[in-house]
Amino acid sequence: MILKQALVGAGVAASMLMMSSSVFAQTVGFSQIGSESGWRAAETTLTQQQAKNRGIDLKFADAQQKQENQIKALRSFIAQGVDAILIAPVVATGWDSVLEEAKEAEIPVILLDRMVDSSDDLYLTAVGSDLVHEGSVAGQWLVDALGGKDCNVVELQGTTGSSPAIDRKNGFEQAISGHANVKLIRSQTGDFTRTKGKEVMESFLKAEDSGKNICALYAHNDDMAVGAIQAIKEAGLKPGEDILVVSIDAVPDIFQAMAAGEANATVELTPNMAGPAFDALAAYMKDGTMPPKFIQTESKLYTQADDPQAVYEQKKDLGY
Ligand code: AHR
Repeated sequence: MILKQALVGAGVAASMLMMSSSVFAQTVGFSQIGSESGWRAAETTLTQQQAKNRGIDLKFADAQQKQENQIKALRSFIAQGVDAILIAPVVATGWDSVLEEAKEAEIPVILLDRMVDSSDDLYLTAVGSDLVHEGSVAGQWLVDALGGKDCNVVELQGTTGSSPAIDRKNGFEQAISGHANVKLIRSQTGDFTRTKGKEVMESFLKAEDSGKNICALYAHNDDMAVGAIQAIKEAGLKPGEDILVVSIDAVPDIFQAMAAGEANATVELTPNMAGPAFDALAAYMKDGTMPPKFIQTESKLYTQADDPQAVYEQKKDLGY
């Protein structure tokens, strides 16, 4: 009798275990853009950690910055019958067909950190920050720091056609509009990379009287800012003083630059997009709970007044 009860108990426990693992995703495909920035590297590391903590088998595909590779990866995930797909879409357009294929296969798709222009019923939810707000926080910081002084600004944009490049530009322009003392004189893509950021900044400096005509740099991410800081130094100017530097991401290297007085401000973007994404997915798979279409992460402004060396120490081992 006791043995029978024990067996029944074990059976119930086993079936409960099976239920709990079958209601949650076991295999998730993750189509990552590539590794263009320190922030992107941290997002990859954290997504892999979050999946491991939850016992999820994460199938990782690095698209090397190409949309066609992301579309191929999604089709391969669909063919493999994964339980869900995470994607950080490199650009905003051109996703309708593949998202419809995932929907037909009843595979929920979650967008991470960038948006698409497809109908929102083609994905379960999107986790990200308010990208326009990030740009406007950066712009407002500059307006306040200038206190009415005339300033020619150069801008390093992110990847052309990506939602952060579009929205961070708009947000910044909104913040400086109505401030006639702040003029955006040059704007070009640096593709979110350090190398391109340096290269484009060199061309800005050459074109603007060896940089004497530039008062501030706005970069859509910290990696481009770090590349540009190098270019400014090589041109014989002091970044952070002769040319103010404001950017977005809050990666450890920008805090080192801030501690050295070579960068002035950054807007934080958390690389932990996967945590909220897996939570939403778990609730959806458990009982069909629909998450909001947009799960917003926080954006926080850091300046040289925020003990950048201490923030660097906290962040330096977090996978950036
Ligand atoms: O989509 C987020 C942006 O993409 C980050 O700001 C940037 O560093 C990245 O590569």
